[in-house]
Amino acid sequence: MSDLPDDFNCTITNWEYIYGLCRTVSDQVKRAEFEPDVVVALARGGWFAGRCTCDFLGLDDLTSLKMEHYVGAAEKSDEPTVRYPMPEGSVEGKDVLIIDDIADTGGSIRRAQEYVEERNAGEVRTATLQLLRTSEFDPDFVGERLEEWAWIVYPWNFIEDMIDLIAGVMERADEETFDRESVRHYLAEYHSVDRIEMEIAQPDRLTEVLAEMERREVIESRGPDQWALAE
Ligand code: ADE
Repeated sequence: MSDLPDDFNCTITNWEYIYGLCRTVSDQVKRAEFEPDVVVALARGGWFAGRCTCDFLGLDDLTSLKMEHYVGAAEKSDEPTVRYPMPEGSVEGKDVLIIDDIADTGGSIRRAQEYVEERNAGEVRTATLQLLRTSEFDPDFVGERLEEWAWIVYPWNFIEDMIDLIAGVMERADEETFDRESVRHYLAEYHSVDRIEMEIAQPDRLTEVLAEMERREVIESRGPDQWALAE
C-alpha cells in the first residue's frame, strides 16, 4: 500500500458479507434479463465473485483476465495493461459478463471491457461487488456503492493486507517493540480498524497474522507477546 497516504480508513469484510454482494450482483443481472455465455473474472480480486456469480446464474463458462494496475497491495501504474491475455475463442461471439471485486479508479474494468470488445465479443457488460466514488467508470451491475473511500480488506487476501497494514504501522509508530494490544491500538489510530469490528468480521486472526509475519521474516519475536520489525 505504498502509494496510499499514511492515514487511510480500512474496512475488514468477511465471506458471508461478500457472498451477499455476489448474490446482489447476480440478482441485478437476472432482473436485467442479461444472459451471459461466459463470465470473465479479473484476476485475482474478481475470482471469488466470478465463481459465485456463475453458481447463482447457472453458468459453466468462467474465464479470467489479469489486469496489471495495482502492483503489490496498492501501487498504481497509469494505464492498466493486460498481463495474462485470454486464449483464442474465449469470448468471440459470446455475451460476456466481466466481474471484479471493486472499482476504485475504474481503470481496470474499463480497460478489460475494451480488451474483450476488441476480441469481437457479443454483448459485454460489467459488474463489481463494490464501487467507490473515486471511480470514473460506472459498471452496469454494482453490489454496493461506498460513500467514503476506504481500503477494503477482502477475506481472500486478509493475511496479505493485514501484514502490509501491520508492517506499515510498526514502521510509523515510535515504539520499537509491539504487543498485540499496541498493534490493535495503531490499527485503530491510523486505519480506523475498530477492535470489535475486526473480531466480528475475522475473529481470532491477529495471532495468526503475527505468526505468519514472523514466518515470512517481516517481524521478529522479542519475547512473549513482543515483536519488532525484522532488521
Ligand atoms: N483495489 C483497488 N482499490 C482498492 C480498495 N480501495 N480496497 C481494496 N482493494 C482495492
